[in-house]
Amino acid sequence: MANTVLITGASQGSGRATALLFARQGYRVVLAARQSDRLTAVANLIQNQGGQALAVPTDVGQSDQVQALVKQALETYGQIDVLVNNAGICLTGSFEQTTPADWQQIMNTNFWGYVYTIQAVLPQFLQRGRGTIVNVGSFGGKMPLPNMTAYCASKYAVTGLTDTLRLELKPKGIHVGAVHPGVINSDFLERAQFRGDDEQAAMAGRQRMADALKSNWVSQPEDIAHAIWTVVEQQRSEIVVGLAALATESYRLLPGVVQWLLGQAVN
Ligand SMILES: NC(=O)c1ccc[n+]([C@@H]2O[C@H](COP(=O)([O-])OP(=O)(O)OC[C@H]3O[C@@H](n4cnc5c(N)ncnc54)[C@H](OP(=O)(O)O)[C@@H]3O)[C@@H](O)[C@H]2O)c1
Repeated sequence: MANTVLITGASQGSGRATALLFARQGYRVVLAARQSDRLTAVANLIQNQGGQALAVPTDVGQSDQVQALVKQALETYGQIDVLVNNAGICLTGSFEQTTPADWQQIMNTNFWGYVYTIQAVLPQFLQRGRGTIVNVGSFGGKMPLPNMTAYCASKYAVTGLTDTLRLELKPKGIHVGAVHPGVINSDFLERAQFRGDDEQAAMAGRQRMADALKSNWVSQPEDIAHAIWTVVEQQRSEIVVGLAALATESYRLLPGVVQWLLGQAVN
């Protein structure tokens, strides 16, 4: 029987690229995201190419919707072999520029969304004594990024969750891995939110990000999909994608120097 992968945030960007890659490799794919039209389009594409796909519109920040997603996936395919936690949002701004509502919004998707899916899938993994969980974090979960306090906090939480869960679940036959992208040339600007001291500053932040996305050093969604596939196939603990690996490794080796350099960029 073919393996089944459940991917959150599968309607576009890295999640969509991951869904298409796993389908090409023979996996049955369960796709989750909020907007059903885009999700259905990805499922149709996979089916037209001869694959099997199930689209389940889901807000990962709502635990009851996540429970229903996993229930429907198990009723349809009988088992889940791989969970890819990828649904995430970007919110840029300093601590002082962000509100409690901003923090709740980003933590609810980027962190609690991951916790809810793992809680929903884990009983079946434990029962079978096998399964793989891949959490998509960020280089901002391995090093500080200026004016991205809430985002980095959410992604550092994902790093802590992933590394600790790996220790706990390894003896039970379950592998937990992480993929940490740098900047990806996806459509994330569509829903990214920019905070600043005023509207003009926020718009300038958006423009800087739009300009950065035109550079040739950014990753493509397919690069992230390939890293996720490698974590599953080779049971790797972690992959930092592209040039971001240079930055995170520099921070690991020389945290003080990198903090100083980042401080110069902010001031
Ligand atoms: N883009 C970057 O530069 C970058 C850098 C480092 C790390 N990452 C991480 O990589 C992952 C993918 O990023 P991407 O750039 O491919 O994103 P993207 O193109 O913006 O796609 C995000 C996906 O997540 C879904 N999503 C958002 N909120 C959701 C929610 N509450 N419930 C369910 N689905 C939700 C979106 O669909 P709906 O809106 O329809 O729900 C969409 O399918 C994220 O975890 C992100 O933090 C991205």
